[in-house]
Amino acid sequence: MLLGVNVDHVATVREARREMEPDPLTAAELAVLGGADGITLHLREDRRHIQDRDLINVRREISIELNLEMAATKEMISIALKVRPDMVTLVPEKREELTTEGGLDLIKGRKKIKYAIDIIQGSGIPVSLFINPSDSDIVISKELGARMIEIHTGLYANSKGRKKTEELNRVKKAVRKGLELGLQVNAGHGLNFANVKKIAAIKGLRGLYIGHSIIANSIYVGIEKAVREMKGLIDTNSR
Ligand code: PXP
Repeated sequence: MLLGVNVDHVATVREARREMEPDPLTAAELAVLGGADGITLHLREDRRHIQDRDLINVRREISIELNLEMAATKEMISIALKVRPDMVTLVPEKREELTTEGGLDLIKGRKKIKYAIDIIQGSGIPVSLFINPSDSDIVISKELGARMIEIHTGLYANSKGRKKTEELNRVKKAVRKGLELGLQVNAGHGLNFANVKKIAAIKGLRGLYIGHSIIANSIYVGIEKAVREMKGLIDTNSR
């Protein structure tokens, strides 16, 4: 199972002082040494962390899979076509949110999302839709023609006790449904060194996309080691 490491938080620290360090490119290079299979950058409309130059630098210097997370806007579509990441993950974006809060609204956003998928996939870049673990969203993702989906694991990550088991079962069911429809299925959001094990054990998942917990732990142990530990956990539990 693949591990995609999101290095946005490295840019968050840099932007806190509008300095040149820490550099998300260096973080990405260290993540590669730690065994990451991919690097994710979320270029937000307000550029609060990752800047356009980060995306260009990572595209130029890093050879593992580059996943560009973005909103389905005309500006972002044109950047994706220019920079040509290995994949694009469409996410909902609200200015006031601390992080991506939920999956895409595929009913309200249907037209914009379909437009983005058609153009981006038409240019040869696969598109993944970040969606809640619901059957109807998976069916719509397939109808819209997306090659991949990423199941939002935030509710699973943030719940406790019986609710946690229920949320885990929703994620498992969503993965099965996605595979049944012939989609490539990923998962992510809120995963950490404790809760990743049960998600990694779900059969058929292509990859996990993890940011906060890896970068948080890297403050203590360094990025390379934090990535290696997460990758080890995923490998052990997905066997
Ligand atoms: N997947 C998507 C689509 C996201 O938006 C994020 C957060 O940027 C992640 C995964 C990673 O989430 P976390 O930082 O909680 O690991």
